[in-house]
Amino acid sequence: MNLGIIGCGAIGTDVAKAADAMKEIKKIYLYDINKKASKALCKTIKKGEIQNVTDFLNDVDVVFEGASQQAVMEYAEQILKEDKDLILMSVGSLFDDHFRKKLEKIAREKHCKIYVPSGAVCGIDGILSAGVGGLNEVTLVTTKPPVSFGKSFDERTVLFEGNARDAVKKFPANINVAASLSLAGKGFDDTKVEIVADPVATRISHKILAHGAFGRLRVELENMPNPNNPGSSYMASLSAIATLRRIIDPIQIGA
Ligand SMILES: NC(=O)c1ccc[n+]([C@@H]2O[C@H](COP(=O)([O-])OP(=O)(O)OC[C@H]3O[C@@H](n4cnc5c(N)ncnc54)[C@H](O)[C@@H]3O)[C@@H](O)[C@H]2O)c1
Repeated sequence: MNLGIIGCGAIGTDVAKAADAMKEIKKIYLYDINKKASKALCKTIKKGEIQNVTDFLNDVDVVFEGASQQAVMEYAEQILKEDKDLILMSVGSLFDDHFRKKLEKIAREKHCKIYVPSGAVCGIDGILSAGVGGLNEVTLVTTKPPVSFGKSFDERTVLFEGNARDAVKKFPANINVAASLSLAGKGFDDTKVEIVADPVATRISHKILAHGAFGRLRVELENMPNPNNPGSSYMASLSAIATLRRIIDPIQIGA
């Protein structure tokens, strides 16, 4: 299997290095608008080759996007129209209902898949299963040290309470987590979001609370930063690599 990677930053680098060690992957095409980034990554792996997206599309089975929402807007349609599966990290791009439905339509017609890794949150499998039986309520509570908001607070302060759609307008840095959760569960308008600045917090944490016909769910994750990008959670890279393994492996675990 051949892999194309768009975005050779923190997550793209972790995925490329992991893919380089997977015997099922023969070739890894790399593209980044910043040529220095793709060149630097290419030097560190054995199966890498730098090419433009349009040039490598013919020769790949799966494309991994770890770049930006802009990159998704630019390449997703083209990738799917070429019958290639897409793993998409910049999931905030799917907030646009019109754009998301367009991608879904192409993927259906072309019999290919858009994989959205769970990223910097956990519990997405539970939310997916619970949704089948009906979810009454899903809430995301994101807590960050005040410095993450560029502010200082002496006590725990709730900065936002509302739905996911409004949360991402006011706090775009939280966009990917809110988008994955909304897509898995009750959608952007009915997923509640609380954003908290807490001087006691040392890490970015995401707590998911849900209840429905299945019972009650509570999942909390404290994220370590990616060693190559303190603004990115290490878990996001790990979930991207796990998604790639999921595509390759015959046994599919989880909802
Ligand atoms: N789903 C999640 O939970 C989750 C978690 C963390 C990050 N993300 C998203 O994943 C993406 C990558 O994150 P990262 O931490 O690796 O970022 P990063 O800044 O370390 O790397 C991004 C790379 O993509 C390149 N790039 C940007 N726009 C591009 C384009 N149009 N075409 C080609 N290359 C482009 C940049 O030059 C950079 O090298 C971001 O969009 C980020 O918001 C998602």
